[in-house]
Amino acid sequence: MAKRIESLKIIDKQQLTRDIFVLELSGKEKIPEMLPGQFVEVRVEGSPDTFLRRPFSVHDINYGQNTFKLLIQIAGKGTEKLSRLNKGEYLNLIYPLGNSFSIPSGAQKILLIGGGCGVAPLLFLGKYLKANGHNPDVLLGFRNSERIIEYDEYLKLGRVFLTTEDGSSGEKGFVTDHQVLKAAGYDRIYCCGPEPMMKAVASYSRENKIDCEVSLENLMGCGIGVCLCCIVPTVRGNLCTCTDGPVFNIKDLKW
Ligand SMILES: Cc1cc2nc3c(=O)[nH]c(=O)nc-3n(C[C@H](O)[C@H](O)[C@H](O)COP(=O)(O)OP(=O)(O)OC[C@H]3O[C@@H](n4cnc5c(N)ncnc54)[C@H](O)[C@@H]3O)c2cc1C
Ligand code: FES
Repeated sequence: MAKRIESLKIIDKQQLTRDIFVLELSGKEKIPEMLPGQFVEVRVEGSPDTFLRRPFSVHDINYGQNTFKLLIQIAGKGTEKLSRLNKGEYLNLIYPLGNSFSIPSGAQKILLIGGGCGVAPLLFLGKYLKANGHNPDVLLGFRNSERIIEYDEYLKLGRVFLTTEDGSSGEKGFVTDHQVLKAAGYDRIYCCGPEPMMKAVASYSRENKIDCEVSLENLMGCGIGVCLCCIVPTVRGNLCTCTDGPVFNIKDLKW
């Protein structure tokens, strides 16, 4: 898939919580076909101490309207600067980058598990799975009810289960504590979120012999396989998260 460097116009901005927002982008050119799990590298303009581009997953795509969305959580200087952008301003991207989640060819019972802003790539994935004849369930985990994002969007995909760490919404605890994991018998799990959560989901999947793919959010420099700062040790040797990933089957990871 050819990569582009392009400045895209922010045609909408939605503030989901105090520190999480969604930017909807559109360009003059037709946006390329992208796959769920792929990401973009964003240039943070006018910010000399954040000269490296920042990676964000493709959150949602509307080919009909020639737009796609990024869901961004403020984590430091770069994302704080991005949070000050408004409708009508431009964002320079290198995209689409990385591999994608694999889509099963036959019928499978599928669960998407997302934690915090790790829900970002799963909306696009869920819609893609639906368009390809699957009916995924979704399990979302947040710290508390005030941190819940995109719940209604995920409801459009099908059943949505919820956990919060303080029990203020859904079941109390972590995603791996949810009752649905005790009962449902899934064939396949896709997961994105904080690393401890993905490791817990990986260990649950191993114990229950469930095929599982995770999307890693390792630190990145170049995003195109040059700087080697995103290396992840796997059973196939050291791989680049940016070009060999960010999606990995847990069978390959040394977790
Ligand atoms: C493939 C991929 C997809 C991602 N998708 C999303 C997404 O959809 N939404 C979202 O909110 N975040 C996403 N992230 C994480 C996001 O890239 C970082 O939060 C962001 O780069 C932080 O930049 P900063 O300048 O604000 O933070 P910094 O001031 O640079 O650092 C603050 C914190 O962010 C971490 N961080 C810094 N740079 C990176 C980096 N290049 N990659 C990963 N972590 C970093 C640091 O470890 C530190 O803990 C993704 C990361 C990767 C690798
Ligand atoms: S980020 Fe540079 S090699 Fe992956």
